[in-house]
Amino acid sequence: DLLDEIKHLEELFAIDTTKLKEITHHFADELTKGLSVHGGSIPMNPTWVMSKPTGHETGEYLTLDMGGTNLRVCQVTLTEQKSEFDIIQSKFRMREELKTGVAEELWEYIADCLQQFIKTYHGDVTNKIPLGFTFSYPATQNYIDEGILQRWTKGFDIAGVEGHDVVPMFEAALSQRGVPVKLTALVNDTTGALVASAYADPKVKIGCIFGTGCNAAYIEDCGSIPKLAHLNLAPDTHMVINCEWGAFDNEGKVLPRTPYDISIDKGSPRPGQQAFEKMVAGLYLGEIFRLIMVDLHDNHDAYIFAGQDISELRKPYSLDSAFLAAIEEDPSKNLSNTLELFQTDLNISPNAPELRLIRRTAELIGTRAARLSACGVAAISIKKGYATCHVGADGSVFQKYPHFKARGAQALREILDWPEKEDPGEEDPIEILPAEDGSGVGAALVAALTLQRIRDGN
Ligand code: BG6
Ligand code: GLC
Repeated sequence: DLLDEIKHLEELFAIDTTKLKEITHHFADELTKGLSVHGGSIPMNPTWVMSKPTGHETGEYLTLDMGGTNLRVCQVTLTEQKSEFDIIQSKFRMREELKTGVAEELWEYIADCLQQFIKTYHGDVTNKIPLGFTFSYPATQNYIDEGILQRWTKGFDIAGVEGHDVVPMFEAALSQRGVPVKLTALVNDTTGALVASAYADPKVKIGCIFGTGCNAAYIEDCGSIPKLAHLNLAPDTHMVINCEWGAFDNEGKVLPRTPYDISIDKGSPRPGQQAFEKMVAGLYLGEIFRLIMVDLHDNHDAYIFAGQDISELRKPYSLDSAFLAAIEEDPSKNLSNTLELFQTDLNISPNAPELRLIRRTAELIGTRAARLSACGVAAISIKKGYATCHVGADGSVFQKYPHFKARGAQALREILDWPEKEDPGEEDPIEILPAEDGSGVGAALVAALTLQRIRDGN
């Protein structure tokens, strides 16, 4: 019966402490491998962000965030006052077709949005305005104003961009329109979160995004980056590394992938890539849930939703992580909000045992995502020997998904063997806290640090 089914799902999705530790230790080894000359599956991309902001950066910058859901343009003014800034922002919609369409259209659309923003807020511009471009995809950077796209992630699939530097493509669209902007720095969203958070809180050593995608950046010593040894940088020089940890365990050594994870991977535009991300990131949580529901209906003697039309449920990616969040947030004992959600969104009326299965399935998916995400944070901390630190985190899953923070904190406690707290108000040795605005002030700070470095002649 359904209770057996729940038990089976629990076996598939639950990750105990021993397994969390095994995953974390392999994760830490893979981070190190990614820095080696031969590399591994985690890219560990040097970002050329080589110092933390002092809090005394000044100037006016534009920032552009091409995250996935929205396109955000900001004007950031860093003031003389330590760690203070002003910000004006506009959001533009990223149409779904743009994500799988033609490259030129993408760059033209972004250039148009920037032009519109500048017209509204600047009027005439005499000198080109420096721009920090948050481009949140894996990119090889030999310089800070370069970004050779390694591969699209998060469901993007635009031909002719992978393997190419995106900066000239974008600049061509800007110059065609005479947009008075100079791309100063290309920044990953994790780097932005790290820099912005470190600006406000010196204890921050790691920046994470738990959103549509999942990834982290941290500060490495150049002496620990063998793949940069040929550049003869001083060993104690700092370099922010964008891990691109979504690619962890692409080779399938430790992650306990379920048939549903394998199915997501096979149906994605880039099978075999982003194995870790596909188990934990917001883009996939609702889809994992949907696949389970369809499977229980089709392949298990119509265990659930017998006699109902499930055609709405059959549409790939029709349920997002907000749908799962709403199920987990349902406060009613009889799960009446969930029933209503299913009726309105899917035209399905689950019975009481089915509602309990739905709730438990959402919990299992959300809990697994939080616990696996914690393995990444623990792995960086172990690799770097951080017994204590703050982590600046952003993204829709971190900000909005119920219990994500508490579940992640619990997993860190198990992995790192922290004793139970005596006082519940006490800080954990490693705390994951909401990041400051990475693609606004973070990208502006990276642009400021870059211009400073150019002035200093490095
Ligand atoms: C935003 C950051 O808050 O979170 C972006 O400013 C980042 O830089 C984004 O890409 C990630 O979250 P999501 O949920 O939109 O993928
Ligand atoms: C994906 C991208 C990565 C980004 C993350 C969060 O993993 O490859 O660059 O940081 O999503 O947005």
